[in-house]
Parts: sequence; C-alpha cells; structure tokens
Amino acid sequence: SEGQLVDGFGRTVRYLRLSVTDRCNLRCTYCMAEDMTFLPKSRVLSLEEMALVSQAFVALGVEKIRLTGGEPLVRNGLLTLAQNLSKLDGLRELVMTTNGVLLDQYAVPLRDAGVSRINISIDSLRAERFTTLTRFGQLDDVLRGIQAARQASFEKIKLNVVVLKGTNDDEVVELTQFAVDNGLDIAFIEEMPLGEISSHDRVDTALDNASVRQQLAEHFCLQASNYKDAASGPARYLQIADSDTKVGFISPMSDNFCSSCNRVRVTAEGQLLLCLGNEHSLDLRAIVRDNPDELQSAIMQAMQRKPEKHTFDPNDITIMRHMSATGG
Ligand code: GTP
Ligand code: 5AD
Ligand code: SF4
Repeated sequence: SEGQLVDGFGRTVRYLRLSVTDRCNLRCTYCMAEDMTFLPKSRVLSLEEMALVSQAFVALGVEKIRLTGGEPLVRNGLLTLAQNLSKLDGLRELVMTTNGVLLDQYAVPLRDAGVSRINISIDSLRAERFTTLTRFGQLDDVLRGIQAARQASFEKIKLNVVVLKGTNDDEVVELTQFAVDNGLDIAFIEEMPLGEISSHDRVDTALDNASVRQQLAEHFCLQASNYKDAASGPARYLQIADSDTKVGFISPMSDNFCSSCNRVRVTAEGQLLLCLGNEHSLDLRAIVRDNPDELQSAIMQAMQRKPEKHTFDPNDITIMRHMSATGG
C-alpha cells in the first residue's frame, strides 16, 4: 500500500517493532536491573488489542513487523498473535527477536505461524560467562534453540551480540566463526545507555564497533557488501569471503544512522515510541480501548513528532526506560 506514515523529516515509516511483553526469562546485566518490576497484566495490551494496533499500522503502509520483548516467547498466546499478524493484508514480513532460550520448543510452531526470519541474541559461547552475563541463563538452552531454528528452515537467522569492553570483546572472532560454521549472519551491537542499572556502569563497558571490525579483519577476509535488508535496518554489513555469513555492525554510538530511520515501536502497554533514544510517545492503549476507530488518524498525526535523531551519552543517562521495555 501507499506509505502514509511520513514524518517531519521526510522519512517513511514501514517497519513496526512490537514489544509483546516487558518480561523476560533472562536478566542480561546491561539490559535489566536485578530487581526489575514488571507491568501488571491490566496495563499490558491484550492479544486482540495488539492485533488491532498492528492492523492500523499495516493499513498505513507498514510492511514489516518485528515481535520483540522482553522475551517474546514468554508471552502467552504469542503463536496465535503471530498467526493473526501474518495474515494481515499488506504485511510482507513478520520477524522476531528472541534470546533463544525457548526456541527448541517454539522454532517449528513459529515458522508454521508465519514468522519468516529470526534474530537470536547470544553474547558469549562460554557457558560460565554466559550465565554471568544473563544472571542465570544456560548457554546449552540457546545452543539447542539455534539448532532447532536451523532445522525449522527460517529464511534467515541472525545472531545479535552486544559487545562490552572487558566482558566479551575477546570473543568476537569465535562468535563470528560460530556463525560461519552454522551458516548464520551475525551483528555486533554497541551498547546504548537505556535505563539506570546500579551494578553496571556503561562508561566502563562502552566499545566502538570499529575495534570489533578490526579484530575480525585480522582473522577473516571481509568483503564490501551493499546488502541492505528489504526494510533497511541500522546495520552496515560486510560479507565473510567464501561463506554464507554477513557481519553487521549496529553502531548507534559511533555512527548515527537516524537519517534513514524507517521504524517506530509499540511497547507492551501500548505506548507508541517515535524514537528509541527519545521520550516522544503516544498512548495507543487509551485509543484502542476507548476509540479504536481513531487509531489510524492518531498514528498518522503522531509521525509529525518523530525526532530527528537520538543523542546517546553513556555519561548522562536521560532515558530511564530499560531496553527490555522496548525490545531494542
Ligand atoms: P532488522 O529488523 O532485520 O534490521 O534487525 P535489527 O538488527 O534492527 O533488529 P534486532 O531486534 O535484531 O536489533 C538489534 C539491535 O539493533 C538492538 O539492540 C536494537 O536496539 C538495535 N536497533 C534496531 N533498530 C534501531 C534503531 O532504530 N535505533 C537504534 N538506536 N537502535 C536500533
Ligand atoms: N544496548 C544495546 N543493545 C541492547 N540489548 C539489550 N539492551 C541493550 C542495550 N542497552 C540488545 C539485546 C538484544 C537486542 C534486542 O537488544 O542483547 O540483542
Ligand atoms: Fe531479556 Fe533480551 Fe534483555 Fe537479555 S537482553 S534480559 S534476553 S530482554
């Protein structure tokens, strides 16, 4: 359909990131505080409300929906929601980002429900380190999940790695080799200062993706790639020679990609977030509950308030919501 979601800077929004829950079965140290309080059920959109909101976005030209969390697979009824969203007329891609813990069980049902691609977060391949990073995760669960996803023949599987100085920055070559061996793409992500975490100082862990790229260049033959996924995400990609693996760099701190932004987010409580790095928002829950007929016009109007860009500073945390509330 025609793109009707055009913001004040001429950018067309074609991509919705829908957080289906703020809950998670892990507690990654850079993502969540140890003592997170989660939303009470009454404040979270029902599956029907999520479908209505999504339908409004698709009617306005959104072609790609990414299901996020928290961890999307801990939301009851997720498969039903996926089934309903994948039937929306005009939607080209239904995709998901997951921590992989429950994928062993859900990979095939997700594929059957119409999810075409998945991104799996994995920050370490060392069992003890993985548990420390996630506060209690078991690496084997995720490894089983990855193999289940490969078997389920998704169109594409991408690994996501948040690189933290002094924590897992010595593993980027191993992680990339793992991606090559398994025929997967991989993306390295610079940490963003979202939410205060008392046990974790982001100034200490900040790392420029240029140093990741340099480490990789010493071990792999990296070729230029003009690959852009259909809905042009923030990653810049290189190809590993003689492999099926593309390496992406998502560098919000060192390389602002906002000028080509094509996305908005909806949180589990129905807050339309116009930018990950700003507070500009609209309460869609009130609208979907009281005046569902007004969803489309309200969303269209909100586009005028989409900020030009994020301005993250690890020394000065101004966004108090944690990544788990937005799904990244
Ligand atoms: P595609 O949808 O295929 O482009 O995947 P993606 O890499 O955008 O999605 P994914 O959920 O795997 O996100 C990986 C990382 O990129 C997360 O840490 C996100 O927070 C980050 N990211 C995605 N979109 C944006 C964005 O618009 N702004 C910023 N600052 N970061 C983003
Ligand atoms: N900065 C960057 N990425 C983050 N993620 C979680 N918290 C942060 C943060 N503060 C990542 C997860 C997952 C993706 C959805 O977001 O590791 O890969
Ligand atoms: Fe959960 Fe993902 Fe946050 Fe880890 S990064 S705590 S898996 S939402």
